[in-house]
Amino acid sequence: MDSAKLLQSGKVTFRKMTLDDIPDIMVIELESFTLPWSEEAFRSEMTLNHFARYLVMEYEGKPIGYAGMWTVLDEAHVTNIAVRTAYRGHHLGECLFRKMMDWAVQLGMRRMTLEVRVTNYSAQAMYRKLGFHSVGTRKGYYSDNDEDALIMWCELPERELEEGEEEGSEEDWI
Ligand SMILES: CC(C)(COP(=O)(O)OP(=O)(O)OC[C@H]1O[C@@H](n2cnc3c(N)ncnc32)[C@H](O)[C@@H]1OP(=O)(O)O)[C@@H](O)C(=O)NCCC(=O)NCCS
Repeated sequence: MDSAKLLQSGKVTFRKMTLDDIPDIMVIELESFTLPWSEEAFRSEMTLNHFARYLVMEYEGKPIGYAGMWTVLDEAHVTNIAVRTAYRGHHLGECLFRKMMDWAVQLGMRRMTLEVRVTNYSAQAMYRKLGFHSVGTRKGYYSDNDEDALIMWCELPERELEEGEEEGSEEDWI
């Protein structure tokens, strides 16, 4: 699988998450995390949290990954990202994350931050590749094994506004 060819062919696509996606998202969630979010948590994010933005990546119309963030003032805080195990290692997670970074820029965000398990080396490598650097740890952040979280930050590129366009506009971001 070549991610560039998959994107070009239109087989891999991106769109905003809806409530109807939750069953598919739960499959990805359960195979990806030892502390998975519940269906209710996703529902609440999409219906009650005005800061929350979630993106779905599809392969031939079927969700294979998702990513989310909270956009507060000019900072985007990544909540989660996961790709179905069968689709990992083909630069699709990277494409998904780049898409979310583009969305954050489109919304006028200047910085992005996230927490990642100190032992999650593959995710850390992806974040570093995309411009993140670590600034410290949160002790015992993960309640299942008391593992520390690495805190990472990235400065986002400045967005050039089209004439007459207002910052924060979501139009045509995808
Ligand atoms: C993290 C995750 C989204 C990455 O998606 P992916 O499609 O497998 O990753 P990609 O193929 O796009 O790889 C992008 C980069 O990540 C890093 N990476 C990915 N898999 C890696 C591995 N097994 N070992 C080391 N680095 C790895 C590399 O830097 C890679 O770029 P490169 O191949 O040019 O060196 C995916 O592994 C996943 O869903 N993991 C479980 C959930 C999770 O841990 N989420 C992060 C929570 S903070």
